[in-house]
Amino acid sequence: MNLNIKEKISTYNNVFEERDQVKRSEQAQLATDNFYTLITKFYEKGWGKSFHFAPRYEGESFEDSIKRHESFLALKLGLTSNDKVLDVGCGIMGPARNIARISGAKIIGLTINQHQVDRCEELNNASSISHLLDVQQGDFMKMSFPENSFDKMFAIEALCHAPNLKGVYEQMYSRLKPGGRACFYQWAMTDKYDPSNSEHIKAKEMIEYGNSICQLKTTEEIDNALQESPLTVLETIDLAVADSKNDVPWYSTLQSGWSLSQIRHTKISRTLIGNILRTFETLRMLPKGISNTQKVLLVAADGLVKGGKLGIFTPMYLVVVEKQL
Ligand SMILES: C[S@@+](CC[C@H](N)C(=O)[O-])C[C@H]1O[C@@H](n2cnc3c(N)ncnc32)[C@H](O)[C@@H]1O
Repeated sequence: MNLNIKEKISTYNNVFEERDQVKRSEQAQLATDNFYTLITKFYEKGWGKSFHFAPRYEGESFEDSIKRHESFLALKLGLTSNDKVLDVGCGIMGPARNIARISGAKIIGLTINQHQVDRCEELNNASSISHLLDVQQGDFMKMSFPENSFDKMFAIEALCHAPNLKGVYEQMYSRLKPGGRACFYQWAMTDKYDPSNSEHIKAKEMIEYGNSICQLKTTEEIDNALQESPLTVLETIDLAVADSKNDVPWYSTLQSGWSLSQIRHTKISRTLIGNILRTFETLRMLPKGISNTQKVLLVAADGLVKGGKLGIFTPMYLVVVEKQL
């Protein structure tokens, strides 16, 4: 189905107006694919080539914290140049290129979105490690790889899009080689989340709507899904609260402030950018629907900051699992 940006935004909004979770999750893959076609360029311009958060120390740059978070994952996986690795929900493979560079492992990216596949191919080919990288379009809920294909796997802030966690864990289990290991950074509501508190519910709904997530899971639900899956759990920990030296909040870049990275979230900058986008749309210098895409991203930013400040949401629930020999 070839929709223009305006139609894509309207289909997207319809999915999130659906209150019935079963119906919503039936449409989730299409909504997520549309979402990433709309926002990949925004993310790349505003965030960089890696589409995730990271713990950050005082004095550490945003870019360094992102790279360190990726390197930490490579360390947890114990990656070597003998490993064939699947990056589940790979974005434009910013993390994969860093991880392949530091470990020498061969990494195959999987994303549901063709626009991201095209961008991965451009960026991988332009890098000096293109021989270590590959990408495939596909749905992680029904992977086309043969059983026992990979030594290791990772998923960075991607499994929140899975309509059913146990299902995606089973998919990974079957494609991991016996003895293989996987490591995820998962988005989750923490045990501080109170489903009867209207402020908490509002923050959760804003994160879901702004990031194309049909239903965010709690850390407890993630633990239960892991228990029900055939994977063996080695470690789970919320990195957002794990480190006391972790003194720059992970959501700080999305907050309004006067630093270079925060200035775009002040009321005045947001209004200005919105007006510019609308004017360019009217003059047909930008495709119709761009300013509404920006609105979705602003809901995402505000929801994430709210969830982070309340301590009810984490983007870095670390899970390390193994397929036993
Ligand atoms: C927030 S981005 C993270 C990307 C990447 N891991 C990174 O950190 O830069 C989530 C990714 O999950 C992918 N994704 C979402 N649902 C998917 C699905 N059902 N199958 C495959 N990929 C999916 C999206 O296309 C996107 O690339």
